Amino acid sequence: MGNPDIVFQSYGRSCNNPAFFEDFYTIFMGKSADIRAMFANTNMESQRGLLRGGIMWLVMHARGMSDSKIRALGESHSKAKMNIHPSYYSLWLDALMETLYRHDPQFSPTLEQTWRATLKPSIDVITSMYD
Ligand code: HEM
Repeated sequence: MGNPDIVFQSYGRSCNNPAFFEDFYTIFMGKSADIRAMFANTNMESQRGLLRGGIMWLVMHARGMSDSKIRALGESHSKAKMNIHPSYYSLWLDALMETLYRHDPQFSPTLEQTWRATLKPSIDVITSMYD
């Protein structure tokens, strides 16, 4: 079952270390040559900063914040804009879980399930806006 407060605390234990976001992109890009190609011309320093906020938007949405930021992500990642196919989000989530295992000393299989269940509704909104 989702639990935004538990996830918020886990993210708090992890996101202060800049290596969290470096490790995330190393792991995420390691999953597919297609993903590496998408970031070939990206300034990764600013991208890491954007991701820091993006994950926070997912967590805040799960805590009941309005869906405007999530819908903005759905729009920017849609077929008409950056064309990020919905099939890539499971790799994104796997990469996030692997990064959390490295950075949150309290991470566990139970906490992983909590994270996945908590983020799922927000990611579903984003992927539902693809077409
Ligand atoms: C850009 C967050 C999933 C590829 C961005 C940006 C944010 C972000 C905040 C900055 C631009 C904007 O605000 O739209 C997220 C979050 C995700 C997610 C929270 C998961 C729910 C993905 C996935 C891919 C992807 C699955 C597939 C590879 C990209 C690319 C850019 C981008 C290519 C543009 C990079 C550039 O400017 O060169 N993402 N993203 N994202 N994202 Fe995502």
